[in-house]
Amino acid sequence: MNMDPNRRPQGNHSFDQPLQALRQQHEYVRKLFDRYLNTQDVEVKKQAGPEILQQLEMHTALEEAAFYPAVQKIDASLVDECEDEHQQAKQMISQLKGMQPGDAQCDQMYKELCDAIMHHVQVEEQQLFPKVEQSGMDLRSIGDQMQMFDANAVSQQAQATEQRDATRP
Ligand SMILES: [Fe+2]
Ligand SMILES: [Fe+2]
Repeated sequence: MNMDPNRRPQGNHSFDQPLQALRQQHEYVRKLFDRYLNTQDVEVKKQAGPEILQQLEMHTALEEAAFYPAVQKIDASLVDECEDEHQQAKQMISQLKGMQPGDAQCDQMYKELCDAIMHHVQVEEQQLFPKVEQSGMDLRSIGDQMQMFDANAVSQQAQATEQRDATRP
């Protein structure tokens, strides 16, 4: 079978260049925050809000499982700082799951989450990633790990959706 290398199964990201893949995910979340924070339309918020939370959960899980452990030895205290920031974000995410997009309190919380995430992204993109690039370590093997984790997460999600749909009346 002749496979076009640019065509990938849906939901599968390219991790040939793992840092680039992470930057693209950051960019995607940034756009979702823009959409949420720059509209008065509650319907738009109701769509963008949960997607922000879901994307952040997938992204932080991916970094924690397949990226941070691989780059820990380059700068342990910087990676620790990143992990702490993930923990703070997760607390906000779990609070936000019980809130109604469009409520003033909820909007304020999304704003705070956005500020925290943008700070965190800056630490990664301006401090951690350059150190990883300069270390000369084999990025392909990190990319392979990330690819495996991602494929697994996508198939688990598909299973969960199937089960949910199967139990619906
Ligand atoms: Fe992160
Ligand atoms: Fe990140």
